[in-house]
Order: sequence, then structure tokens, then C-alpha cells
Amino acid sequence: MKSLFTATLVSAALLFCLVLPSTAIAANEPLTGHWLHEDTSPDGNVSQIVLIFYQSGPKLTGKVVFSWGDLGITDGTTDGHSFHFTVMTPADSEKPAVYDGKLDGDEIEVISRWPGNNNTTYRAKRAPDTTGIALARIPPPALHVVPYNGLAKTPPMGWNSWNHFQEKIDDAAVRGMADAMVASGMRDAGYVYINIDDTWEGQRDAAGNIQTNRKFPDMKALADYVHSKGLKIGIYSSPGPKTCGGYEGSYGHEVQDAKTYAKWGFDYLKYDWCSAGKIYGNEDLQAVYQKMGEALQASGRPIVYSLCEYGMGDVWKWGPAAGANLWRTMGDIGDSWKSMDEIGFNQDRLAEYAAPGHWNDPDMLEIGNGGMTDTEYRTHFSLWALLAAPLLAGNDLRTMSAATKEILLNREVIAIDQDPAGHQAKRISKNGELEVWARPLADGSRAIGLFNRGEREAKVSVKWSDVGMSGEPTVRDLWEHRSLGKVSREYEASVPSYGVVLIKVSPN
Ligand code: GLA
Repeated sequence: MKSLFTATLVSAALLFCLVLPSTAIAANEPLTGHWLHEDTSPDGNVSQIVLIFYQSGPKLTGKVVFSWGDLGITDGTTDGHSFHFTVMTPADSEKPAVYDGKLDGDEIEVISRWPGNNNTTYRAKRAPDTTGIALARIPPPALHVVPYNGLAKTPPMGWNSWNHFQEKIDDAAVRGMADAMVASGMRDAGYVYINIDDTWEGQRDAAGNIQTNRKFPDMKALADYVHSKGLKIGIYSSPGPKTCGGYEGSYGHEVQDAKTYAKWGFDYLKYDWCSAGKIYGNEDLQAVYQKMGEALQASGRPIVYSLCEYGMGDVWKWGPAAGANLWRTMGDIGDSWKSMDEIGFNQDRLAEYAAPGHWNDPDMLEIGNGGMTDTEYRTHFSLWALLAAPLLAGNDLRTMSAATKEILLNREVIAIDQDPAGHQAKRISKNGELEVWARPLADGSRAIGLFNRGEREAKVSVKWSDVGMSGEPTVRDLWEHRSLGKVSREYEASVPSYGVVLIKVSPN
């Protein structure tokens, strides 16, 4: 009897603790709580933004929860009705995103302004306190070395949907890209992979099998179509519960998903960290990537494994041990000189980690997307080839200009990228905005890029002694497609602003 009484007392006390204070808070601090905004995209995917607010008088703290990560609230203020706060955006550490809004019954109205974007207005509903809280952590496996899968002996070449299409990619566009890959001559020049990036994912079925959304009615049929063209096909996922675009990720379903990709006929997986960062830290990166590396190898199909975690945790040091063939070295590329320049000229320190089967990935190509001049795109292509980077076109192959085609189809530059020795270029000299990068090739030649990152045409030169050569080697200009004959001691060229002169120098 006594124990029943005690138990009742304890439960009553518990009930009091759980219920009363939150009611009290709701009355006095009306913004405190979890606020859910849901958006259904045309393909049927439901994405969420959760605003978690703690109001203390005029102060508002908490966070904004996106599918790809959480951003803490800074400088939050409120009068209990209207609110204002900022969050630091991952892309731009100087300019915060600014949020304003107000309470409206059991909803809030939110206006967010992200640097460089228009205002977005949406409403969010009061939701249970579990909304927006990360899933429980599944312990990652113990580390060991995943054996090399024997793939990607030279950097992968192909096409990826993200840079041009983002979420607007569908079955018809992928088929169209496969057709264009053949018709343009790109397949015959070495471009093999047709890679579907984020936003193909649907929900899981009752058995946990991942399904496609409306845009991709039959993945197996699509893979068969791409294969029928003499091409290979790639897919995308995340080790987190959600992809960066807010679609279903592979968290807790790694083995099952790898089997599904193999069953559908996929040959390539890009595996993007995204929301895994809500559950795991940098110390878990290798183990988490190892898990999918092993799952792919157990799937019974050869699948190129591409890691996308923006260079965190010095991925180049452990990528091969996790079973990876390539790994992103930095954040996302944009279709601008500034973005391409920042990424491309920052790869020098990683040269020693590139080798056949294992590549640094400075991100996909922007050539033909319209944000740079053809001169700049030639610089982009030359630099990526020198860096032994994957050559994944990111434009609409069906509507390429002649100039874009000429760049992507320059077989002499492609041959540099695909050189079987797999050495990555290093910076040989830097004189202000003028740089020389050189890459040793399997036949004893050197590929040398004379780059001008400045605003005015300039002369750039290289001494043979600086690239380990002597005598009178033969020089060939790989954009002019012309031999310049034997040249002693050094070579100097006029290089246009933001341009390159790319030469191959062969000993005699
Ligand atoms: C991240 C990746 C991009 C692309 C998007 C898709 O930003 O770095 O390359 O895959 O996710 O959501």
C-alpha cells in the first residue's frame, strides 16, 4: 500500500514537472517551442525546416534546423509577438542570414533573408518537442582497411546532373544526356559516367527499401537504357538521414541501399555527408564512409565510390582505406571565376595523395553553364586536367555551344588528365597573379600550365630546369594543337587575363 502511494506521489510529481512548467512557459514566453514548416516539392518530397526557440523575456535563443545541418540563433530579440534574429551561414562567414517574423495564433510567420538571395516567407506550426531533434546515433564500425576495388585507374570522366539541373533532373533529361554524350562524341573521347545527383529519392517501402520519387519511374529501366548506349550510370546518397537537398539518406540502411543500387545496375555512388554531421563528428568520418565502402563491395557489383565531405578530416589521408576512389577536397564549386579560381589554385598541397584508383576531387566542371568566359572555361579545364581531377561535365549536353564542345572534347587536354601515371600537378612558381603548374607524365614529358589569374594580359615563363628537364625538348601547345618545335632553356608566352597557355614538353 505504502509503495503504491509513493509511486502515485512520484508520478504526480513527475506529471507536475513535465506539464506545469511548459504550460507556464507557453503562457509567459509564447515563442518557446518547436515550429515546423513543411514544403512538398513537385516530385512529392516533403522537406522540413524546424525553428527551435527558447524565449527568455526579450531574448530569443535556439536554432534553425535544416535537413543538412543546424544553425544556431545569434542576436535574437522579441517582444513576445514579433521576433528578429540572425544565423551564421556556412557559405559566407561574414554575412549572416537575417530572420524576422511574428506570432499568429498557433503558427509563426517567418521572413528569411540569406545573403545573395531574395526574401523567403513561410509559416511554421507549433510542433511536438521531438520535432527537429537528431535521430539516435548508430555506432560506426571499428576501423580497418577496405581493399581497393580495382576501379577508376584514371580519373572518372562523365557528367553529373547537379551543377546545371539541381532538383530539376528527371528520367527524360538523364536519357537525353546519355543520347547527347554519344551524339557529341564525348563518349568516344572517354566520358563514360552519367551521374544522377541529389533529388531522385522517394520514401522507403515497408521493408525499408529505398524507392524513387515521381521524376524517376523506373531506375532499372533507366540504367539499362544508359548501358545500352555504351555508358555507365551513377547515383547519389548521404550517410545521414537526409541528403543535402532534404531527401531520404542511407542512414541505418547502408547495406540495403548498396544492394538496391547494384540491383538497379548502378556503377558509381557519390556519398554526400550532409545531415550525417548532425549525428557524427569529424572523428567518425572514416568509419562512416568505410561502412558504405564495404557495403558497396559486398553488393556484388563493381561500383566507383566517390566521397563528398568537402575535405573535412583530411579525407585524402584515409579515403583509400575507406574504399574510396575519389574524394571532394573543398566546398561546392559555383559557375564563376572567383569560385573556380579559389578551388582550383588551392590544390597544390594535395598532389602527393593522388594515384591510380584514388583521386582528389576539386568538384565537377562548370564549363558551358554560362557564368564564365570561354577563356576562363579553358583555364578551368586545363587546371582540372593538370590536377588529375575527375572530369564530370556539369552542363546541359543537349544544347552545348560549339565553343563548349571544343573545350570538353579537346583530346590533347583529356590525355593529360587521363595520363596513366596518375601524378597530380604541383605549383612550380608564383609571381603575383602569374603561376606555373607542371605535371610529370608517364612517357617522361611534362604538362605545363602557364596561368594568368590577373586582369591584364601578361607574359608568363617557365625554365626547363624548374621542371626537372634540360637540353632542347619539343614543345606542343595543347589548345592551339600545334608543335612549337625544339626550345632550349625556357619558354615564355603571352597569356590573356584569366587565361592559360597549356603545353606539353617532351624530351628528345
Ligand atoms: C552538396 C554537394 C553537391 C550536391 C548537393 C546536392 O552540396 O556538395 O555537389 O551533391 O549537395 O544536394
